[in-house]
Amino acid sequence: MAKIQLKNVSKAYGDHNKVIENMNLEIQDGSFTVLVGPSGCGKSTTLRIIAGLEEVTDGEVWIGNQLVNDVAPGKRGVSMVFQNYALYPTMTVRGNIEFGLENMKIPKAERKKMVEEIAETVDLTDYLDKKPQNLSGGQRQRVALARAMVKKPNVFIFDEPLSNLDAKLRGQMRTELIQLHKRLGTTFIYVTHDQMEAMSMGDEIVILNKGQMMQQAAPMEVYHNPANQFVAKFIGTPAMNVLPIAMVEGKLGKIIDKNIFYVGFRPEHAKIQMTDLSTFGLHLSCNVMTMETLGSETLYLLNSEVGQFQVKSYLPPLIDTEKVHVTIPAEKLYYFDERGNRIYLKKLPFERLGEVVKGGVLL
Ligand SMILES: Nc1ncnc2c1ncn2[C@@H]1O[C@H](COP(=O)(O)OP(=O)(O)OP(=O)(O)O)[C@@H](O)[C@H]1O
Ligand SMILES: [Mg+2]
Repeated sequence: MAKIQLKNVSKAYGDHNKVIENMNLEIQDGSFTVLVGPSGCGKSTTLRIIAGLEEVTDGEVWIGNQLVNDVAPGKRGVSMVFQNYALYPTMTVRGNIEFGLENMKIPKAERKKMVEEIAETVDLTDYLDKKPQNLSGGQRQRVALARAMVKKPNVFIFDEPLSNLDAKLRGQMRTELIQLHKRLGTTFIYVTHDQMEAMSMGDEIVILNKGQMMQQAAPMEVYHNPANQFVAKFIGTPAMNVLPIAMVEGKLGKIIDKNIFYVGFRPEHAKIQMTDLSTFGLHLSCNVMTMETLGSETLYLLNSEVGQFQVKSYLPPLIDTEKVHVTIPAEKLYYFDERGNRIYLKKLPFERLGEVVKGGVLL
Protein backbone atom coordinates (compact mmCIF):
# COMPACT_ATOMS: atom_id res chain seq x y z
CA MET A 1 0.00 0.00 0.00
CA ALA A 2 1.19 3.48 -0.67
CA LYS A 3 0.34 7.13 -0.63
CA ILE A 4 0.93 8.98 -3.91
CA GLN A 5 1.99 12.56 -4.35
CA LEU A 6 2.43 14.73 -7.40
CA LYS A 7 4.37 17.85 -6.51
CA ASN A 8 4.23 20.79 -8.94
CA VAL A 9 3.89 18.40 -11.84
CA SER A 10 3.62 19.77 -15.37
CA LYS A 11 3.52 17.89 -18.61
CA ALA A 12 3.87 19.11 -22.18
CA TYR A 13 4.11 16.91 -25.25
CA GLY A 14 6.95 18.21 -27.42
CA ASP A 15 6.70 21.98 -27.90
CA HIS A 16 2.96 22.04 -27.38
CA ASN A 17 1.18 23.77 -24.53
CA LYS A 18 1.10 22.08 -21.16
CA VAL A 19 -1.60 19.43 -20.83
CA ILE A 20 -0.99 19.23 -17.06
CA GLU A 21 -0.17 22.45 -15.30
CA ASN A 22 1.53 22.64 -11.94
CA MET A 23 -0.51 19.84 -10.41
CA ASN A 24 -0.30 19.20 -6.68
CA LEU A 25 -2.18 16.02 -5.94
CA GLU A 26 -2.11 13.86 -2.85
CA ILE A 27 -3.77 10.45 -2.93
CA GLN A 28 -4.13 8.81 0.46
CA ASP A 29 -2.90 5.32 1.13
CA GLY A 30 -5.75 2.83 0.75
CA SER A 31 -8.19 5.36 -0.71
CA PHE A 32 -10.47 4.88 -3.69
CA THR A 33 -9.73 8.08 -5.56
CA VAL A 34 -11.58 8.91 -8.76
CA LEU A 35 -10.23 11.36 -11.33
CA VAL A 36 -13.07 12.84 -13.33
CA GLY A 37 -13.35 15.54 -15.98
CA PRO A 38 -14.26 16.18 -19.60
CA SER A 39 -12.49 14.55 -22.54
CA GLY A 40 -8.95 15.81 -23.01
CA CYS A 41 -8.62 17.32 -19.50
CA GLY A 42 -5.57 15.18 -18.68
CA LYS A 43 -6.96 12.20 -16.77
CA SER A 44 -5.12 9.48 -18.70
CA THR A 45 -1.95 11.57 -18.77
CA THR A 46 -2.06 11.88 -14.96
CA LEU A 47 -2.48 8.11 -14.61
CA ARG A 48 0.31 7.42 -17.06
CA ILE A 49 2.60 9.77 -15.14
CA ILE A 50 1.90 7.85 -11.91
CA ALA A 51 2.40 4.49 -13.65
CA GLY A 52 5.65 5.73 -15.19
CA LEU A 53 4.47 5.36 -18.78
CA GLU A 54 4.95 9.08 -19.29
CA GLU A 55 7.78 11.31 -18.06
CA VAL A 56 6.95 14.60 -16.38
CA THR A 57 8.19 17.87 -17.88
CA ASP A 58 8.50 19.36 -14.40
CA GLY A 59 7.91 18.35 -10.80
CA GLU A 60 8.13 15.26 -8.63
CA VAL A 61 6.18 12.01 -8.40
CA TRP A 62 6.27 10.19 -5.06
CA ILE A 63 4.94 6.72 -4.30
CA GLY A 64 5.15 5.97 -0.61
CA ASN A 65 8.45 7.40 0.59
CA GLN A 66 10.17 7.08 -2.74
CA LEU A 67 10.74 9.71 -5.41
CA VAL A 68 9.95 7.68 -8.52
CA ASN A 69 10.68 10.11 -11.39
CA ASP A 70 13.50 7.83 -12.51
CA VAL A 71 12.00 4.50 -11.47
CA ALA A 72 10.91 2.19 -14.33
CA PRO A 73 7.16 1.42 -14.65
CA GLY A 74 7.61 -2.24 -13.72
CA LYS A 75 9.37 -1.29 -10.48
CA ARG A 76 6.78 1.14 -9.12
CA GLY A 77 4.40 -1.43 -7.65
CA VAL A 78 1.61 -0.05 -9.84
CA SER A 79 -0.78 -2.18 -11.94
CA MET A 80 -2.95 -0.69 -14.63
CA VAL A 81 -6.29 -1.81 -16.10
CA PHE A 82 -7.39 -0.17 -19.35
CA GLN A 83 -10.68 0.41 -21.12
CA ASN A 84 -9.88 -2.01 -23.95
CA TYR A 85 -8.61 -4.75 -21.56
CA ALA A 86 -5.57 -5.33 -23.83
CA LEU A 87 -5.83 -9.12 -23.50
CA TYR A 88 -3.72 -11.42 -25.68
CA PRO A 89 -6.24 -13.09 -28.04
CA THR A 90 -4.18 -16.22 -28.70
CA MET A 91 -3.62 -16.99 -25.01
CA THR A 92 -6.13 -18.61 -22.67
CA VAL A 93 -7.47 -16.81 -19.63
CA ARG A 94 -4.85 -18.67 -17.60
CA GLY A 95 -2.11 -17.54 -19.97
CA ASN A 96 -3.26 -13.94 -19.85
CA ILE A 97 -3.33 -13.84 -16.05
CA GLU A 98 -0.01 -15.64 -15.71
CA PHE A 99 1.72 -13.44 -18.25
CA GLY A 100 2.20 -10.66 -15.72
CA LEU A 101 4.10 -13.03 -13.44
CA GLU A 102 6.57 -14.41 -15.93
CA ASN A 103 8.87 -11.42 -15.71
CA MET A 104 8.87 -11.71 -11.93
CA LYS A 105 10.87 -14.97 -11.91
CA ILE A 106 8.31 -16.89 -9.86
CA PRO A 107 8.56 -20.72 -10.05
CA LYS A 108 5.99 -22.42 -12.27
CA ALA A 109 4.13 -24.32 -9.54
CA GLU A 110 3.75 -21.20 -7.46
CA ARG A 111 2.55 -19.23 -10.48
CA LYS A 112 -0.13 -21.83 -11.11
CA LYS A 113 -1.34 -21.55 -7.53
CA MET A 114 -1.45 -17.74 -7.67
CA VAL A 115 -3.39 -17.74 -10.95
CA GLU A 116 -5.96 -20.16 -9.57
CA GLU A 117 -6.41 -18.17 -6.38
CA ILE A 118 -6.99 -14.95 -8.28
CA ALA A 119 -9.35 -16.66 -10.75
CA GLU A 120 -11.37 -17.77 -7.76
CA THR A 121 -11.49 -14.20 -6.40
CA VAL A 122 -12.90 -12.79 -9.64
CA ASP A 123 -15.10 -15.80 -10.32
CA LEU A 124 -13.29 -17.06 -13.43
CA THR A 125 -12.29 -20.55 -12.31
CA ASP A 126 -14.51 -22.21 -14.92
CA TYR A 127 -13.09 -20.09 -17.71
CA LEU A 128 -9.35 -20.54 -17.18
CA ASP A 129 -8.87 -22.58 -20.35
CA LYS A 130 -11.02 -20.43 -22.61
CA LYS A 131 -9.77 -17.76 -25.03
CA PRO A 132 -10.84 -14.12 -24.59
CA GLN A 133 -13.04 -14.16 -27.73
CA ASN A 134 -15.26 -16.73 -26.06
CA LEU A 135 -15.94 -14.53 -23.03
CA SER A 136 -18.47 -11.79 -22.40
CA GLY A 137 -17.40 -8.17 -21.95
CA GLY A 138 -17.69 -8.44 -18.18
CA GLN A 139 -15.66 -11.63 -18.06
CA ARG A 140 -12.92 -10.08 -20.22
CA GLN A 141 -12.85 -7.14 -17.87
CA ARG A 142 -12.41 -9.53 -14.96
CA VAL A 143 -9.49 -11.22 -16.73
CA ALA A 144 -7.86 -7.81 -17.08
CA LEU A 145 -8.50 -7.22 -13.39
CA ALA A 146 -7.10 -10.61 -12.43
CA ARG A 147 -3.97 -9.97 -14.48
CA ALA A 148 -3.45 -6.72 -12.60
CA MET A 149 -4.27 -8.26 -9.21
CA VAL A 150 -2.00 -11.28 -9.50
CA LYS A 151 1.05 -9.03 -9.27
CA LYS A 152 -0.14 -7.87 -5.84
CA PRO A 153 0.56 -4.22 -6.58
CA ASN A 154 0.61 -1.41 -4.02
CA VAL A 155 -1.50 0.74 -6.30
CA PHE A 156 -4.18 -0.12 -8.84
CA ILE A 157 -4.82 2.27 -11.66
CA PHE A 158 -7.95 2.02 -13.79
CA ASP A 159 -8.48 4.03 -16.96
CA GLU A 160 -12.20 4.02 -17.82
CA PRO A 161 -12.32 0.24 -17.34
CA LEU A 162 -16.08 -0.08 -17.64
CA SER A 163 -16.90 2.15 -20.60
CA ASN A 164 -17.16 -0.75 -23.07
CA LEU A 165 -19.80 -2.53 -21.00
CA ASP A 166 -23.56 -2.14 -21.20
CA ALA A 167 -25.34 -0.21 -18.47
CA LYS A 168 -26.41 -3.23 -16.40
CA LEU A 169 -23.04 -4.92 -16.45
CA ARG A 170 -21.34 -1.61 -15.71
CA GLY A 171 -23.46 -1.26 -12.59
CA GLN A 172 -22.56 -4.79 -11.52
CA MET A 173 -18.84 -4.29 -12.14
CA ARG A 174 -18.89 -1.02 -10.20
CA THR A 175 -20.21 -2.88 -7.17
CA GLU A 176 -17.62 -5.61 -7.66
CA LEU A 177 -14.80 -3.07 -7.81
CA ILE A 178 -16.01 -1.32 -4.67
CA GLN A 179 -16.07 -4.67 -2.87
CA LEU A 180 -12.68 -5.62 -4.26
CA HIS A 181 -11.25 -2.36 -2.93
CA LYS A 182 -12.69 -3.05 0.51
CA ARG A 183 -11.25 -6.55 0.51
CA LEU A 184 -7.77 -5.63 -0.70
CA GLY A 185 -7.41 -2.29 1.07
CA THR A 186 -5.03 -1.22 -1.71
CA THR A 187 -4.92 2.31 -3.13
CA PHE A 188 -7.24 2.52 -6.15
CA ILE A 189 -7.00 5.36 -8.66
CA TYR A 190 -9.84 5.28 -11.07
CA VAL A 191 -10.50 7.46 -14.12
CA THR A 192 -13.91 8.13 -15.60
CA HIS A 193 -15.63 10.97 -17.42
CA ASP A 194 -18.93 9.87 -15.89
CA GLN A 195 -19.68 11.99 -12.83
CA MET A 196 -22.30 9.53 -11.56
CA GLU A 197 -19.71 6.77 -11.59
CA ALA A 198 -17.26 9.05 -9.79
CA MET A 199 -19.81 9.95 -7.12
CA SER A 200 -20.89 6.38 -6.50
CA MET A 201 -17.45 4.77 -6.41
CA GLY A 202 -14.94 7.20 -4.98
CA ASP A 203 -14.29 8.00 -1.37
CA GLU A 204 -12.36 10.93 -2.79
CA ILE A 205 -12.98 12.74 -6.08
CA VAL A 206 -10.52 14.86 -8.04
CA ILE A 207 -12.12 17.05 -10.69
CA LEU A 208 -9.86 18.11 -13.54
CA ASN A 209 -10.39 20.71 -16.24
CA LYS A 210 -7.86 21.63 -18.92
CA GLY A 211 -4.98 20.07 -17.03
CA GLN A 212 -5.78 21.79 -13.74
CA MET A 213 -7.29 20.50 -10.54
CA MET A 214 -10.62 22.18 -9.85
CA GLN A 215 -11.33 20.47 -6.52
CA GLN A 216 -10.41 17.41 -4.50
CA ALA A 217 -12.85 16.26 -1.82
CA ALA A 218 -15.29 13.55 -0.76
CA PRO A 219 -18.27 13.07 -3.11
CA MET A 220 -20.83 14.74 -0.84
CA GLU A 221 -18.52 17.67 -0.18
CA VAL A 222 -18.03 18.21 -3.90
CA TYR A 223 -21.80 18.14 -4.38
CA HIS A 224 -22.76 20.36 -1.45
CA ASN A 225 -19.73 22.62 -1.50
CA PRO A 226 -18.43 23.01 -5.05
CA ALA A 227 -15.34 25.25 -5.07
CA ASN A 228 -16.24 26.91 -8.35
CA GLN A 229 -18.76 27.07 -11.15
CA PHE A 230 -17.01 24.37 -13.14
CA VAL A 231 -17.44 21.81 -10.35
CA ALA A 232 -20.96 23.05 -9.58
CA LYS A 233 -22.01 22.40 -13.15
CA PHE A 234 -20.00 19.21 -13.66
CA ILE A 235 -21.24 17.31 -10.60
CA GLY A 236 -24.96 16.65 -10.30
CA THR A 237 -27.64 15.76 -12.85
CA PRO A 238 -29.11 17.86 -14.23
CA ALA A 239 -26.37 20.44 -13.78
CA MET A 240 -26.64 23.35 -11.34
CA ASN A 241 -28.52 26.31 -12.82
CA VAL A 242 -26.29 29.39 -12.86
CA LEU A 243 -27.60 32.87 -13.67
CA PRO A 244 -25.87 36.25 -13.86
CA ILE A 245 -26.65 38.07 -10.60
CA ALA A 246 -27.69 41.18 -12.52
CA MET A 247 -30.64 39.24 -13.93
CA VAL A 248 -32.03 38.14 -10.59
CA GLU A 249 -31.24 41.23 -8.56
CA GLY A 250 -34.71 42.67 -9.01
CA LYS A 251 -36.27 39.36 -7.96
CA LEU A 252 -34.04 38.65 -5.01
CA GLY A 253 -33.36 41.99 -3.41
CA LYS A 254 -30.61 44.55 -3.40
CA ILE A 255 -27.22 42.85 -3.65
CA ILE A 256 -24.84 44.22 -1.05
CA ASP A 257 -21.77 42.18 -1.99
CA LYS A 258 -20.27 43.60 -5.16
CA ASN A 259 -17.99 40.60 -5.73
CA ILE A 260 -20.92 38.43 -6.68
CA PHE A 261 -21.38 37.95 -10.42
CA TYR A 262 -23.37 34.72 -10.56
CA VAL A 263 -25.96 32.96 -8.47
CA GLY A 264 -26.62 29.23 -8.74
CA PHE A 265 -29.09 26.66 -7.48
CA ARG A 266 -29.50 22.95 -7.90
CA PRO A 267 -32.52 21.72 -9.88
CA GLU A 268 -33.55 19.57 -6.91
CA HIS A 269 -33.51 22.50 -4.46
CA ALA A 270 -36.08 24.52 -6.36
CA LYS A 271 -39.65 24.13 -5.15
CA ILE A 272 -42.18 24.08 -7.94
CA GLN A 273 -45.81 24.94 -7.12
CA MET A 274 -49.00 26.19 -8.71
CA THR A 275 -49.08 29.15 -6.33
CA ASP A 276 -46.25 31.24 -4.94
CA LEU A 277 -44.71 30.19 -1.61
CA SER A 278 -43.87 32.61 1.13
CA THR A 279 -40.43 31.05 1.70
CA PHE A 280 -37.63 33.62 1.80
CA GLY A 281 -35.57 33.29 -1.37
CA LEU A 282 -35.68 33.67 -5.10
CA HIS A 283 -39.20 33.63 -6.57
CA LEU A 284 -39.77 33.13 -10.27
CA SER A 285 -42.91 32.88 -12.37
CA CYS A 286 -42.32 30.40 -15.14
CA ASN A 287 -43.77 28.75 -18.20
CA VAL A 288 -43.36 25.01 -18.49
CA MET A 289 -41.40 24.22 -21.66
CA THR A 290 -41.06 20.45 -21.25
CA MET A 291 -41.75 17.92 -18.54
CA GLU A 292 -40.17 14.46 -18.25
CA THR A 293 -41.63 12.03 -15.75
CA LEU A 294 -39.02 9.52 -14.65
CA GLY A 295 -40.93 7.45 -12.11
CA SER A 296 -39.92 8.78 -8.73
CA GLU A 297 -38.97 12.20 -10.05
CA THR A 298 -40.05 14.73 -12.65
CA LEU A 299 -37.76 17.01 -14.64
CA TYR A 300 -39.08 20.34 -15.79
CA LEU A 301 -37.51 22.73 -18.26
CA LEU A 302 -38.87 26.14 -17.39
CA ASN A 303 -38.72 29.55 -18.97
CA SER A 304 -38.80 32.69 -16.88
CA GLU A 305 -37.83 36.33 -17.11
CA VAL A 306 -34.31 35.35 -16.13
CA GLY A 307 -33.98 32.66 -18.79
CA GLN A 308 -34.40 28.90 -18.98
CA PHE A 309 -33.50 26.51 -16.20
CA GLN A 310 -34.25 23.01 -14.94
CA VAL A 311 -36.08 21.83 -11.87
CA LYS A 312 -36.18 18.32 -10.45
CA SER A 313 -39.16 17.48 -8.26
CA TYR A 314 -40.05 14.38 -6.28
CA LEU A 315 -43.69 15.45 -5.93
CA PRO A 316 -46.41 14.15 -8.27
CA PRO A 317 -46.03 15.81 -11.70
CA LEU A 318 -47.96 19.00 -12.37
CA ILE A 319 -49.85 17.80 -15.44
CA ASP A 320 -51.64 20.17 -17.84
CA THR A 321 -50.05 23.16 -16.20
CA GLU A 322 -48.44 25.91 -18.22
CA LYS A 323 -47.70 28.49 -15.58
CA VAL A 324 -45.91 27.59 -12.36
CA HIS A 325 -44.13 29.30 -9.49
CA VAL A 326 -40.64 28.36 -8.44
CA THR A 327 -39.05 29.24 -5.13
CA ILE A 328 -35.43 28.64 -4.28
CA PRO A 329 -34.89 29.09 -0.53
CA ALA A 330 -32.21 31.67 0.22
CA GLU A 331 -30.01 29.14 2.03
CA LYS A 332 -29.88 26.99 -1.12
CA LEU A 333 -28.32 29.68 -3.30
CA TYR A 334 -24.66 29.52 -4.32
CA TYR A 335 -22.66 32.61 -5.20
CA PHE A 336 -19.72 32.96 -7.56
CA ASP A 337 -17.31 35.76 -8.41
CA GLU A 338 -16.42 37.15 -11.82
CA ARG A 339 -14.04 34.24 -12.53
CA GLY A 340 -16.51 31.59 -11.42
CA ASN A 341 -14.90 30.92 -8.05
CA ARG A 342 -17.22 30.25 -5.17
CA ILE A 343 -17.90 33.02 -2.67
CA TYR A 344 -18.54 31.55 0.77
CA LEU A 345 -20.78 33.71 2.91
CA LYS A 346 -21.94 33.63 6.49
CA LYS A 347 -24.65 36.21 5.94
CA LEU A 348 -27.10 36.79 3.13
CA PRO A 349 -25.47 39.11 0.58
CA PHE A 350 -28.67 40.96 -0.27
CA GLU A 351 -31.41 43.05 1.27
CA ARG A 352 -34.85 41.68 0.84
CA LEU A 353 -37.04 43.85 -1.35
CA GLY A 354 -38.71 46.53 0.74
CA GLU A 355 -37.09 45.52 4.04
CA VAL A 356 -33.64 44.95 5.43
CA VAL A 357 -32.68 41.46 6.58
CA LYS A 358 -30.90 41.88 9.87
CA GLY A 359 -28.20 39.31 10.42
CA GLY A 360 -29.90 36.70 8.24
CA VAL A 361 -27.43 33.90 8.80
CA LEU A 362 -27.04 31.33 6.07
CA LEU A 363 -27.30 27.69 7.08
N1 LIG B 1 1.11 11.47 -27.00
C1 LIG B 1 0.54 12.68 -27.06
N2 LIG B 1 1.05 13.65 -27.84
C2 LIG B 1 0.49 14.89 -27.88
N3 LIG B 1 -0.59 15.25 -27.17
C3 LIG B 1 -1.15 14.33 -26.38
C4 LIG B 1 -0.62 13.00 -26.28
N4 LIG B 1 -1.38 12.30 -25.40
C5 LIG B 1 -2.35 13.16 -24.99
N5 LIG B 1 -2.20 14.37 -25.57
C6 LIG B 1 -3.05 15.55 -25.32
O1 LIG B 1 -3.08 15.79 -23.93
C7 LIG B 1 -4.36 16.22 -23.50
C8 LIG B 1 -4.82 15.33 -22.37
O2 LIG B 1 -5.01 14.02 -22.86
P1 LIG B 1 -5.53 12.82 -21.96
O3 LIG B 1 -5.46 11.59 -22.79
O4 LIG B 1 -4.80 12.82 -20.68
O5 LIG B 1 -7.04 13.25 -21.72
P2 LIG B 1 -8.20 12.47 -20.97
O6 LIG B 1 -8.67 13.36 -19.87
O7 LIG B 1 -7.77 11.11 -20.61
O8 LIG B 1 -9.35 12.41 -22.09
P3 LIG B 1 -10.39 11.24 -22.46
O9 LIG B 1 -11.54 11.38 -21.49
O10 LIG B 1 -10.83 11.62 -23.85
O11 LIG B 1 -9.70 9.93 -22.39
C9 LIG B 1 -5.25 16.18 -24.73
O12 LIG B 1 -5.39 17.48 -25.22
C10 LIG B 1 -4.50 15.30 -25.69
O13 LIG B 1 -4.75 15.69 -27.02
MG1 LIG C 1 -8.31 9.19 -21.25
